Amino acid sequence: MRVLVTGGAGYIGSHTTVELLGQGHQVLVLDDLSNSSEESLRRVAELAGRPADFVQANVGDAAELDAAFTSFRPDAVIHFAGRKAVGESTRLPLLYYRENVAATVTLLETMAAHGCHQIVFSSSATVYGSASEPPFTEDAPTGATNPYGHTKHMIEQILADAAAADPSLSVAVLRYFNPIGAHESGRIGEDPKGIPNNLLPFVAQVAAGRRTGLQVFGNDYPTPDGTGLRDYIHVVDVAQGHLAALARLADGAGCQTWNLGTGRPFSVLEVISAYEAASGVRIPYQIVDRRPGDVAASYADVSKAGRELDWTAHRSLEQACADTVRWQAANPDGYAQ
Ligand code: UFG
Repeated sequence: MRVLVTGGAGYIGSHTTVELLGQGHQVLVLDDLSNSSEESLRRVAELAGRPADFVQANVGDAAELDAAFTSFRPDAVIHFAGRKAVGESTRLPLLYYRENVAATVTLLETMAAHGCHQIVFSSSATVYGSASEPPFTEDAPTGATNPYGHTKHMIEQILADAAAADPSLSVAVLRYFNPIGAHESGRIGEDPKGIPNNLLPFVAQVAAGRRTGLQVFGNDYPTPDGTGLRDYIHVVDVAQGHLAALARLADGAGCQTWNLGTGRPFSVLEVISAYEAASGVRIPYQIVDRRPGDVAASYADVSKAGRELDWTAHRSLEQACADTVRWQAANPDGYAQ
């Protein structure tokens, strides 16, 4: 297939592009490099043995998008591009509505104008909010508690409405839990700008000596050790979930939703131990107050993806930590040369 990958230079996008190229697909990455680096695409080419085409553009730029569709003629789109920091979204909500919601509308209009009928969308387990208890099935009640989460929830609604109105449109909504890890080669991985928001990149930087210690946000949750439980999934498993969804879209129209998780939750303290074991480095930490907006536990019911996509996550937390250690050791400053 000819696949347009928005945000393909980013963390999950780059790993997915390696898998797409490996399966023989033709790929055009469209990325504005606002939170990614072209170096990741050079390394994707090295890993896959051939490059993806690349256009530096924002997905909300209708003229650039139209030009990309005219020249590349994609059969399908995998739409990763978007902003993803919860804290930033509370300070700059309109930026999130423009770059996530409005840009997706532009993308759908452009797809319709060019007769492209298949899209895989990066959604998030954040849409489950705290309306119900995990494990979350795809039909659990949804909602969101911050502008970032609202954009994911709104885009899901827009995609469902667009598919209902256009019987030729096939949509896969993938709700990611907590992607972690790196390609086993250590050549591509997560390269957050500034202070990492997420647990694994922060732990990795503490282990590497870039930061002095980790703050554990709360140990008074109703969980076995009091710290938050999450469903950490290896990024290569997430990437392979996209290929499984793409294969399924070819079978039929409509809007379908699948969780991408492992179904197995780990606590913050268990993640610290796993990273210590993988790296051989002790991670100093202190317990601090809960982080506003955090839930006690979030993990997936993964049976629907197993049944319908013939996909399950295969890689363990230990493997994800080992791969992150390898990526971090070989690239102490990420892609910065
Ligand atoms: N945590 C710490 N210290 C840190 C960072 C995180 O203790 O420095 C804890 C959190 O409190 C939470 C766990 O580690 O219990 C995981 O936190 P992350 O920030 O890594 O991940 P979240 O589950 O909070 O967030 C992720 C995505 C968001 C998404 C959310 C819900 O990063 O984009 O899942 O789906 F909105």
